[in-house]
Amino acid sequence: MAGPTTTTAATAVDPLRGRRVLLAVTGSIAAVKAPSLVTALQARGAEVRCLLSPSAERLVSPVALASLSRHPCACENDQWQHGQPRPLHIDLAEWADLVLLAPLSAATLARLVHGQADQLLASTLLARPASCPLVAAAAMNTDMWLAAAVQRNWAVFQNDAGVLALPPAATGLLACDRRGPGRMVEPALLELAVASVLARGVRRDLVGRSLVVTAGPTREAIDPARFLSNPSTGRMGVLLAQAARLRGAQVQLIHGPLQVNSAWLEGLECQAIVSAADLEEALSLRAPGADAVLMAAAVADQRWRHPDPAKAPKQALQERLADAASWEAVPDLLQQLVARRSPGQVLLGFAAHTGDVLGQARAKLARKGCDLLFANPIDAPGAGFGSETNAGWLLDAGGAVEAIGPCSKLTLAHRLLDAVADRWYQPPVLSAGSATEAGGSSSSSMNVLS
Ligand code: CTP
Repeated sequence: MAGPTTTTAATAVDPLRGRRVLLAVTGSIAAVKAPSLVTALQARGAEVRCLLSPSAERLVSPVALASLSRHPCACENDQWQHGQPRPLHIDLAEWADLVLLAPLSAATLARLVHGQADQLLASTLLARPASCPLVAAAAMNTDMWLAAAVQRNWAVFQNDAGVLALPPAATGLLACDRRGPGRMVEPALLELAVASVLARGVRRDLVGRSLVVTAGPTREAIDPARFLSNPSTGRMGVLLAQAARLRGAQVQLIHGPLQVNSAWLEGLECQAIVSAADLEEALSLRAPGADAVLMAAAVADQRWRHPDPAKAPKQALQERLADAASWEAVPDLLQQLVARRSPGQVLLGFAAHTGDVLGQARAKLARKGCDLLFANPIDAPGAGFGSETNAGWLLDAGGAVEAIGPCSKLTLAHRLLDAVADRWYQPPVLSAGSATEAGGSSSSSMNVLS
C-alpha cells in the first residue's frame, strides 16, 4: 500500500491558502483588532477584503485596512455610487469564499436575524450565496450580551444554515471596565474557526455528543528539579478538541503542559494535569459519561516509584537512575479505558513510531483493543511532535487502513472525528483477546457484541 508522503508545513495545504475572505467589521471596540486579523489571514495565504459598518468606521481606519489588505475597504457611502456598475453588496457577497464577521455587535445581530438589509454590511451578509459560509464572533457589553432580546436573537442566529456563531469569551476585561462575558474571542481562535470552516464547512453533526480528549505530555517527577517527559506540544489533541467543539460537541480536555496558543482552549472544559497518575484519576472521573475518548496525550512509559522531596545530588541521582528498582512502568490508560468502556463508547488512540510505522501500529491496535488508532512517523519532516502538519494511517478494529495526509493537523482532526462519528452508527467490534475473534469487516455480524 502506498504510504503517506512526507511534507513540510510550507507544502501541505493550509485551508486558508488561496481562499477569499471578506472581513466584515461592526461597531464594537474589538473592531480595533481588524488590522491584525487582516495581516494574520494574509500571512496564511488568504486574499482579504474589508467591509465596515458605519459604527466600525469610527473605531478603525478604512485607510489602514485598505492598505493592509491591498484592496479598497468598503464603507457605507460606497453603496450606490455611479462608478460602481454592479450593486456593491452583491459584488462583495459573490466575491467571498467565506465571510468573517468580527466583531459582531448586538445591532448587526438583530439585522441578520430579522433580515433587515438597511446598511451595506447587513445587505452584503444577507446577499451571501448559500455556498458562502459565515463565521461570526459576538462582542459587546456583558449586560447587553445577557439581555433577553440579544439571547433570543443569538439562539436563532446560531442555528442559521452556513453560520458558525462564536459566542464571546466566557470572561475578560471589557472596554467598559467590567469583567464578564462579552469580549470577542481571540484572533487566534477566529483563524482556527475560519480554517476549520474552509476545510470542512459548517457542521453541527456532533451536537448532543460528549467527548473527552487528552493532550500533551505527562511529566513524571524524579525530584523537585527533574522529571521524565517527551516532546509532545499538545497541538494535535487541542485541535481535535476544538474541531469537535466547533462541530457542536461538549468537550472536556484533559491536558499536560501545553505549548499551543491558549486562545485555542476557549469553549472547552479544561483540566490541567501533570503526571500519568493525574491523568488516570481525571479519566476515571470523566471517561465513563463520554460518547468517545480520544487519547492524544503522550503518556510517559516509566516513572520514578518514589519521587524525592529534596533535590538529589548528581552522584546519588546517577546511582538511583541506574537502579531498576527505582522505576516502574506506567499503567496503560487506554487499555484501562477499553476494559471499562461504557456501551457504545468509541475509543481512539494514537501511535507515534519510527521505522515500520504500520506494522507496529497494527500490533499496537491489537494489543490495546481500541476502536481506532492513528499512527504516524515521528522521524519524517512535517509529521509528529510539534509539527503543523501530519501524515499517517488510520487503522480500525475491523482491519481497515486509510492513509491520511500530508495535511494540516486541523484537517486531520476533522477526518478522525468523522471516523469516530461513523463508529457510533456501526456495531462495535470485539477487541483482540476477547472471547470471540474479531476480524474482517467491522460490519460483519460475527463481530457484533450482544
Ligand atoms: N497510552 C496510554 N497509557 C500509556 C501509554 C500510552 O493510554 N501508559 C495511550 C496514548 O495516549 C496513545 C496510545 O496509548 O493513544 C499509544 O501510545 P504510545 O506511546 O504510542 O504507545 P505505548 O503504549 O507507550 O507503546 P510503545 O512505547 O511501546 O510504542
